[in-house]
Amino acid sequence: MSKIIISPSILSADFANLERDIKKVENAGADWVHIDVMDGHFVPNITIGVPVVKSIKKITNLPLDVHLMIENPDKYIKPFADAGADILTFHYEACPDNIKNVIKMIKSYGIKAGLSIKPKTQAEEILEFLPLLDMVLIMTVEPGFGGQAFMPDCAEKIPVIKQHADNDLIIQVDGGINSDTARLCTQYGANSLVAGNYIYKSDNIKNAIHSLY
Ligand code: DX5
Ligand code: ZN
Repeated sequence: MSKIIISPSILSADFANLERDIKKVENAGADWVHIDVMDGHFVPNITIGVPVVKSIKKITNLPLDVHLMIENPDKYIKPFADAGADILTFHYEACPDNIKNVIKMIKSYGIKAGLSIKPKTQAEEILEFLPLLDMVLIMTVEPGFGGQAFMPDCAEKIPVIKQHADNDLIIQVDGGINSDTARLCTQYGANSLVAGNYIYKSDNIKNAIHSLY
């Protein structure tokens, strides 16, 4: 299998020291920076928005993996693309009737398009979009908060997606990832792992990242 892309979630970082905490994962070998954008409507939490993404772009060379947990994602594709997102992932449940259009919008900025599904959404619902996508993000917790327990049933969607996708589709998992759950997901065929608490609450960030491979 090709290399696993590790994308630490800065939701578990210290927001008063974001630059320091992003450098920490960058120096420890992270591949991407995962940025969780929440609007208080699609999920019951509010996190960060466009200006913060713009500032992060200036202090890291890592690709910005922006996970939009927001309603009406079509309204925010341009602002986040302009702010420097390299991968822009939105939720199927936020706009089930407008998926193709939103993917097209993301791709028009020359960046990668990702589609995410919440735990209760079946993999079969998004199969028709796979040929248009660069990445599928399978949530293994209910989106909204870091530090929740991994839901093993959700990982069973990985082989379903993999079986219907071509080899260059990135299959990412997000929520409750640690060295054990990472292994389960990569055995199923995931090739990108998001981890927040496991990385940022660890005493040795480098070891934590390497234990996910
Ligand atoms: C949850 C977010 C995740 C979160 C993961 O809604 O999408 O990216 O930060 O945190 P952990 O790894 O702590 O479950
Ligand atoms: Zn996320």
